[in-house]
Amino acid sequence: MEKNKVVVNADVTQGTINKNIYGQFAEHLGRCIYEGLWVGEDSAIPNTKGIRNDVLGALKKLDIPVLRWPGGCFADEYHWKDGVGPRENRKRMVNTHWGGVVENNHFGTHEFMMLCELLETEPYINGNVGSGTVQEMSEWVEYMTFNGESPMANWRKENGREEPWKVKYFGVGNENWGCGGNMRPEYYADLYRRFQTYVRDYGDNKIYRIAGGANVDDYNWTEVLMREASHLMDGLSLHYYVHPGGFWDKGSATNFSADEWDESMYKAMYMGELIEKHGTIMDKYDPEKRIGMIVDEWGAWYAVEPGTNPGFLYQQNTIRDALIAGVTFNIFHDNCDRVVMANIAQMVNVIQAMVLTEEDKMLLTPTYHVFEMYKVHQDAEKVSLDLNVGNLAYGDKTYPQVSASASKKDGVVNISLCNLDKDNAATLALDLRGIDLSNVTGRIITASEMNAMNTFENPENIKPEAFTSFEVNGSQLDIDLPPMSVITLAAK
Ligand code: AHR
Repeated sequence: MEKNKVVVNADVTQGTINKNIYGQFAEHLGRCIYEGLWVGEDSAIPNTKGIRNDVLGALKKLDIPVLRWPGGCFADEYHWKDGVGPRENRKRMVNTHWGGVVENNHFGTHEFMMLCELLETEPYINGNVGSGTVQEMSEWVEYMTFNGESPMANWRKENGREEPWKVKYFGVGNENWGCGGNMRPEYYADLYRRFQTYVRDYGDNKIYRIAGGANVDDYNWTEVLMREASHLMDGLSLHYYVHPGGFWDKGSATNFSADEWDESMYKAMYMGELIEKHGTIMDKYDPEKRIGMIVDEWGAWYAVEPGTNPGFLYQQNTIRDALIAGVTFNIFHDNCDRVVMANIAQMVNVIQAMVLTEEDKMLLTPTYHVFEMYKVHQDAEKVSLDLNVGNLAYGDKTYPQVSASASKKDGVVNISLCNLDKDNAATLALDLRGIDLSNVTGRIITASEMNAMNTFENPENIKPEAFTSFEVNGSQLDIDLPPMSVITLAAK
C-alpha cells in the first residue's frame, strides 16, 4: 500500500498556539449549570461550595484556560443584578430560550467567579445588549472590577467579596443577528460602539472587548462590523456548529448512517474555509492581525436524546465527536495567527459536552479525552507540517482522510493525527526533521463501531490507550492510523 507523506520540520516555527482555543462555554441551558456544575451546598452529591466534586475534578485535568458565561442566547436576557445577594432572595425568572423552565438565579456572578477560581481558569463574561441597558452592562463591570469606594463595589463587598475580581474577556452581546435582538449588522455595529464605551477599565484591570460576530458564512456581518467598529474591538466572534442533517433536522448523536459520518467530517473540515474567508475580510481592515478571531461557539449539535426536554439540548457523544474535536483543533492550530480563542459548546450536559451527568453519576465523553490528549499544544509553538494525503469521496464531495498538526514546547515535539476514515487504516510515512526520535511515545483514542460511546453503565468503553504501532527508521516514522482514530505522538 502506498504511504501518505507527512513532513514535520521542528526547526520551522509558525507562531504560538494560543491556549485559549481550548476554552469552554457554560450557559444557563438545560442541565449545564444546574445539576451539571451547581448542585448547591446542601446537596447529597459531594460538592465544594455548591460545585459538584466529580465534575470539578474531571474538568481540572483539562487545564481549561478560559470559560465563557452566562450564554449564549441566555446572555441577552440575563440581568446580572438578579443573581447576586442572598440566594433565598434572588429573583426567579423564566428561561424562555431554553425549555421555559424557572431560573432561580442561584448561580450568579459570585458563584461563577468561584468556579473559575476552582478551575484556575480565566472568566469570559458575555454581557446583555439585546434586552439590557448600557447602564446595566457598565455597572456589572464596575461591580466586578472596581477597586475602591463606588456604589457597585460597595454592593459587591456587602455581598461578601471585598477584593475586585480580574475580568479580562468581556463579550458585548451574543448572536445579535438572531436570539440577541435580530439586528442588522449596521445597527448592531452602532450599538456595539455605544455599549463598549461604558465597559470601563478600572485600575489595572484591562478588558479585552469582544464584538458579537457572524453566524457561519455571513461574511457581510464581518465586513460591516470590521468597517464600522474594528477600531473599538479586540476580538470578533464567529459561531459555527456541525449539524450533519442541517439545522432543522440535525440527525441523531448515536444512531446515524455512514453518509452522516461523511457529512459530519466534511462539515467539520469546513471550519477551515470559514476562518480563511472571515479572516480575509478581517485582514482588509486589520492587516496587522491585532484583532483576534474568537470562535466562541463551536461543536457538533445533534437532535436531543430521545425522551429528554427538547429545550435542554442534551446529546450523547461518540467516537465521531472525538474526530470532530481533533480535526477542529488541527484547523485552529493552522490558523493560530488569527484564531486566538475558541469555546466549545458546551462544558457539561449540553451539545458536544466534556462530561455527562445523571444524578450522582458522571461520565467522560470521547470529546473530553481529545481535549485532554491535545492540551500539550496549549501555548506551544506551532511547527511546520506538510501533509500530502488522499481524499475520501462521497456523493459529489470529498474530504481528506487525515488531518494533522504539530507543535513544540519545553523541548517536546507533539504531533496530533486524525484518521477520518471510519473503514480503513491510513498508512503514513512521517519525515521528522529536527526531532530526536530516540524516545517517541503515543496515545490513541479509537473504536470499532462508528457510534461507540461511553454510557453510565459502561463509562470507560472508549478512552485513550497507549499507542505503539509505529516504527522509527532513521529520521522517518512509519505509522498505521487505525480507522476513526485520534493519535498524539510525543518526541522527547
Ligand atoms: O449553544 C447553544 C446556543 O447556540 C447558544 O445559546 C446560542 O448562542 C447559539 O445559537
